[in-house]
Amino acid sequence: MKDQVKITKTKKGLRHPLQPLLEKRWSPRAFLDRPIDPDTIATLFEAARWAPSSYNEQPWCFLYAVRGEEAFDKLADCLSDNNRRWAPQAPLLVAVIAKTFLDRNGKPNRFAWYDTGQAVAHLSVQATSMDLYVHQMGGYEADRLRDAFGIGQGYEPTAMMAVGYLGDPAELPDDLHEREANPQVRRDPSEWLFHGSWTKG
Ligand SMILES: Cc1cc2nc3c(=O)[nH]c(=O)nc-3n(C[C@H](O)[C@H](O)[C@H](O)COP(=O)(O)O)c2cc1C
Repeated sequence: MKDQVKITKTKKGLRHPLQPLLEKRWSPRAFLDRPIDPDTIATLFEAARWAPSSYNEQPWCFLYAVRGEEAFDKLADCLSDNNRRWAPQAPLLVAVIAKTFLDRNGKPNRFAWYDTGQAVAHLSVQATSMDLYVHQMGGYEADRLRDAFGIGQGYEPTAMMAVGYLGDPAELPDDLHEREANPQVRRDPSEWLFHGSWTKG
């Protein structure tokens, strides 16, 4: 069993050196056939737990399963065809669910998704520090996930994630293998960064 595949991902056009974990993070599709030990999994969710949130409501929920468990197959069945080609090779699948009402008064929490995404960002950075990689996915069927696990109103399936150690891209189907070699790219900040004045619509 390989311990870890080393792939250095290029960030095309990186303008300033970043905190090394942020430079290291990317979203791979090839994962090693190596389980993640339960303590490490618990650490990932501990990182999410300490994310900030509006009114400290902590509106995120994570439903996870490890490969070999029945629930893992149920999660994998909710993925889009494209994501199902690679994501179930990861040892850990997670459904990210936002609780959309406030515990304090039952009213809608308009920061539910914002806070949930932030918890995922925490988890991703923690994962990277442990040589794990997170690939988030919007390609899944939310209604199927709801039915499969009995997720009721007030809880919104938001995304899914595959988590694991970097694998060998050569083991992916050809088209995915090619994409794995692409550099990471980003929009120019001039499209979204405004210093003191707003120049969009
Ligand atoms: C909410 C969300 C949904 C995504 N959905 C998918 C998906 O369904 N399939 C996929 O292969 N990648 C998906 N991605 C991964 C993005 O394509 C990826 O983060 C983006 O291209 C930037 O690449 P990087 O994460 O390697 O920097 C998703 C990412 C996010 C945050």
